[in-house]
Order: sequence, then C-alpha cells, then structure tokens
Amino acid sequence: MNTSSTEHKRGIFSSNWGFLLAAIGSAIGLGNIWRFSYMAYDNGGGAFLIPYFVALFSAGIPLLMLEYGLGHREKASAPLAFAKLSRRMEWLGWWMPIFVMFGIMFYYQVVIGWCANFTIFSFNLAWGSDTQDFFLNQFLGITKGPGELGGLQGIIATATALMWFVTWFITYQEVHRGIERACKIFMPVLLVTTIILVVWGLTLPGAAKGIEYYLKPNWGKLLDFKVWMAAYGQIFFTLSISFGIMIAYASYLPKKTDLVQNAWIVALTNCLYSFVAGFAVFSILGYLSYSKGLPIDQVIKSGPTLAFVVFPEAISKLPFLREVFGVLFFSALTVAGLSSGVSIVEALTSAIMDKFKLARKWIVTALCMIGLFGSLIFTTGGGLFWLDIVDHFLNQYGLVLAGLLECLVVGYVLKTKVLRNHINATARVKLTWVWDFMIKYLTPAILLVMLVRSLYTELSKGYGGYSVSALLGIGVTWLIATLVTGIMLSVYPWETSRLKTDHVPESDELFK
Ligand code: TRP
Repeated sequence: MNTSSTEHKRGIFSSNWGFLLAAIGSAIGLGNIWRFSYMAYDNGGGAFLIPYFVALFSAGIPLLMLEYGLGHREKASAPLAFAKLSRRMEWLGWWMPIFVMFGIMFYYQVVIGWCANFTIFSFNLAWGSDTQDFFLNQFLGITKGPGELGGLQGIIATATALMWFVTWFITYQEVHRGIERACKIFMPVLLVTTIILVVWGLTLPGAAKGIEYYLKPNWGKLLDFKVWMAAYGQIFFTLSISFGIMIAYASYLPKKTDLVQNAWIVALTNCLYSFVAGFAVFSILGYLSYSKGLPIDQVIKSGPTLAFVVFPEAISKLPFLREVFGVLFFSALTVAGLSSGVSIVEALTSAIMDKFKLARKWIVTALCMIGLFGSLIFTTGGGLFWLDIVDHFLNQYGLVLAGLLECLVVGYVLKTKVLRNHINATARVKLTWVWDFMIKYLTPAILLVMLVRSLYTELSKGYGGYSVSALLGIGVTWLIATLVTGIMLSVYPWETSRLKTDHVPESDELFK
C-alpha cells in the first residue's frame, strides 16, 4: 500500500450486498413512481414504454458499466477519476455531482417533503374530495407562473427542512454504516408496500382500461422525438447515471467485484420496479377515469402532480383501510426518496474529500445547509413551475449531455478497450466489442441526435407552455452556473501524489 492510499483510505463496502443495496437504494427513488408515472402518462402510456426499454439497453446499461468500471479502476470519485484520465476533463467530474446536488437535489428534497406531508394527511384523509384542487391550491398555494413566487408554504418548507436534516444525519456517519443501515431498513419496507399497492390497484373497477393504456403500444407516437428524449432523460435519472454517484460508489468496492453482474442487477431491478409500480399507477388511473367518467388522458391536469392527485383520490374512494394504505404508500415514497438523496451528498462529499483536505463532517454539514437554502424557492407558490423547468432542463440536457461526454472521454481519451479489460478481469460473463462499439459510436450518436433535435424544437416551440425566455432564463442559467462552478473547482491544483494512478496496468493490457 503506498502512502497516498494510506492517507486517503477509502471506506470499503463490507460486502457486495452492501454495495448492491446502496446502488439500488440510489437508483430506486421518487423517479420510479412519481417521475416515471408522469413521464409515461404525459407521453402517451404505451407510447413511452418502448423508447424507455430501448434507452435502457442502448444507453442505461452500457453507461452504468462505464461508471462502475471507471470508479473501480481509478478508486476515485468522479472529479479525481476524470482528472486521472486527463486533467483537462476534470471539470466534467465536478459538473455532474454539482448540478445534481445544486439543482436536482434542491427540488427532489421538496418532493420528498410533499410525500412526508401526505403521509401525515393520510391519517385523516385531509385532502378531502377534490384532490386536484387540494394539491394545487390549498397545499402548493400555486401562483400563475414561474415569474410570480408568492410566499413560502409553511408546511412544505418545514417538511423540506426536516428531510434535509434526516439526509444530513445519515450522511454525517461513515459510508458503510450510514448508507448500508439506511438501505437495509428502507428497501424491504418499500418493496412490501409497493406489492400491496399493485395487487390492490389491479382489483379496482376500471383497472383494465388503465392497464391497456399503459401497455398498448402507440406506434404512431414512436416518431415523436419528444417521447424519445423523455425516455432517455428518465433512464438517466432513474439509474442515477451522470450523477457521479455510481463512480463514487464503485470506488468503495473491493478489488474482486463482478461489475458487469452488478450493473445488470441494479439496472434490471430498478427498471422492473418502475414497470411493476406502473401497474399500480395506471390501474388507479383507470379506476379514476371509470369513476369520474373522463378519458384517461384527461384525468390529470399537470404531470408532476399525478402521484399526489391520483393516489389520494383513489385512497379516499377505497371501501376500507384507507388511512393505512395512505400511510404505507406515502411513507414508502418518502423512504425511497431519502435513500436516493443521501447518495448525492455522499458522492459530492467524497469528491471534495478527494481534492481538498476538509473533514467529512464539515463538508456534509455545509452541503446540507446550502441544499436547504436552495430548496426554499421550490417551496413557494411558484415552486411547481420552477420544479418543472429545472427538472426538465437538468435531466434532458444536463444528464444526457454529461452522459455523452462520458462516452467520449472513455472512448477516446482512456480508450474503451482499457476499461473493458479492467472490467472483464473480474467478470464472469465478459463484455465484448459490442460494448466498445456502443460507448464509442452508438450511444454518443443517439444522445447527440436527441440533444440537437430536442433543443431545436424547444427553442422554436418552447416546452410545456412556458415562454422561451422563462426556459432560457431559468434552465440555461442553471446549467451554466453549475458548469462554471465545476470548472473553477477543477482549476485548483491537486496534491500531485493523488493524481498518480495507483493501479498497476491490468495484466491483459500488457499482453494484448
Ligand atoms: N435515481 C433516483 C430516482 O429514480 C434519483 C436520484 C438518485 C436522485 N440520487 C439522487 C435525485 C440524488 C436527486 C438527488 O428517484
């Protein structure tokens, strides 16, 4: 062991199980129920599923393997991993966790706060009979548009602060204890509640109609780029790709780990989970459409509110155990969200620790305090609009662009073959040239076409009815501000020993 690795000893997951739980804990979150369901709903149900699975195999899984391989090979969080490949690409390693922490995480914690509030509302079904009105007007206190913030909504701000406190509490402890323990408690709770919900949802009248809407492919819509872009964005979000999280987590793995197998397990478990949870969502939508006499695509007015309008309404109409189901469902969502949120604080903390000699506890505390502050805008009356715009931009452009750049850096700076050899050294089922081909050509080409097409449409037509100036003002500024921060952090010099690659060249690298 050389001095640099003794000095910066990285915690090691106590078992592959611990890693899997943490990786799945990061992947499975609000994205699987809250975001997946409204992406599917807004993009025509069955029309969304094919692009979703194509995105999983053409970008999700190859990139997940790339991130695992990179973190594991360089034994470093994202910035250091990229800096070891090329000092000039280090900014990318900062940009990813920064725009997630100071963007996605800001509103993600607010949505977890909504879940926490709804857990409490469930005790007496406080949402009444018109859940859409309750959610938008009474709960959110919604304003007319992003330009009008209105005041902070007290209970939302309080719940959000509480969520930040819990996140701080979990990450304040060391990696293996904090994250593993949280996941071991959270994941089973989540699994059980979801299964109950699915089984229960399928028995409701009208469920079949909802399921048909969910599963029946709409071939015509496959030509719509918007649907494809949404599917790729969702895959990145749901697998926590381009967050820098998976790179950091993989750096904590023991040497002999089957990364290929882990990537398959995490990706398939996560997407299967969304797919299954979708049955609950759409059967309830079918039930609502039946009981309200409305076509399915008119049941919900605004996508991001879907989970919070549909579920309470359906819960209220249940003949029995309403409160129990309400509490189970919303507490599971809260828990799933928290275990995902924890992972970005963890990733950025390990990135900062890799470069700056700061104590873990201080970094965690500072990040959570800034996070809470940043979340506040999303707890105002105009918060929902901000959430929609920031979420749209950071996902579809931030995550996808970062993923594209990752492919290029590994494809052309490190060379895919080098990384593939590293991954294959411990894999039972080895990666072949197909993976190289995807990372070097196919995946970046698809992502590039998506980005250009979708940017072009949006600049000419806008998105979701917002003005192009609001989109550019909020979305683009956000991306650029985080990019500049990333570049600034990358310019600061490293302690030279840290940049040295402490991995011996892979044996097969020498002989090939
Ligand atoms: N993959 C998560 C999901 O589907 C999203 C997520 C993971 C996340 N880690 C995060 C969001 C950190 C914000 C911050 O819900």
